[in-house]
Amino acid sequence: MSMGNYAKHAAVWDWSGHDRSGEVNCWLTLAQKYGTRVLSAMCATGKVASALAEECLTVTAVDITTEMINEGRRKYGHSPNLTFREGDICALDLATKDYDFTFIATTDIHHLHTSEAREKALASLATHTRPGGGLGIELWYPPDKSFASPWREFQPLVPPTPGEPKAWKKGRTEYDASTKLVTITQEVFVERDGVVEQFPHAFSLQLFSREDLYGTLARAGYIEVAEYGSYDLEPWEQGSSKWIVEAVRR
Ligand SMILES: C[S@@+](CC[C@H](N)C(=O)[O-])C[C@H]1O[C@@H](n2cnc3c(N)ncnc32)[C@H](O)[C@@H]1O
Repeated sequence: MSMGNYAKHAAVWDWSGHDRSGEVNCWLTLAQKYGTRVLSAMCATGKVASALAEECLTVTAVDITTEMINEGRRKYGHSPNLTFREGDICALDLATKDYDFTFIATTDIHHLHTSEAREKALASLATHTRPGGGLGIELWYPPDKSFASPWREFQPLVPPTPGEPKAWKKGRTEYDASTKLVTITQEVFVERDGVVEQFPHAFSLQLFSREDLYGTLARAGYIEVAEYGSYDLEPWEQGSSKWIVEAVRR
């Protein structure tokens, strides 16, 4: 339940057509503080990684799901600055061990449900980063109160590229403040040549406190240096829409 149906989802992962330029600028700005060699962890098809490669960074994009990596290579494999690798963030062994900057985007770290798994992941990134190199993580700040959203339908914001399938979703989100667990239940619809296929994509995200994060960062070999509350890198404050943490490898 916690992992979702990423293999099945890969072919239509970038279905929504929403503008990700703010997110790309965020990671570009942070990466350029440290250098040009960048590791994008839990990258899915590498859409953001490919945009960074277009900005002349040398990017390695890693994901555990074979289908995501294959789809990323199909879409963005032409980019000379972008390399895809299949791998588990908790046990990476890449040839390059001196990246300038590594990042985990879109609250993906919450797929790792235990402090132990998160520590392994961050320690694994640390062993692939030069001393003084940077780390960026986009997290989901744990809300104080539980909530449950109703089922909603999500349609793509732009028509699909000719020849590509059309996808849309129905989904709902529940959050239990006592366990800090977010449960996301989705049905994905994919239309190819007039035929609609449907499959479930359900997963849970384990949120955690700032103290938990800072302890994990310290044990993994990092010192936190800043917290931001938006992709424009404004300082984080209570109620900020984003929670982005920057840390430096000791
Ligand atoms: C929400 S998606 C990532 C979205 C991505 N950040 C983007 O911008 O499109 C989460 C991804 O994490 C990957 N993943 C989950 N556990 C992983 C692990 N232990 N190591 C590497 N990737 C993992 C999944 O295969 C999936 O592609």
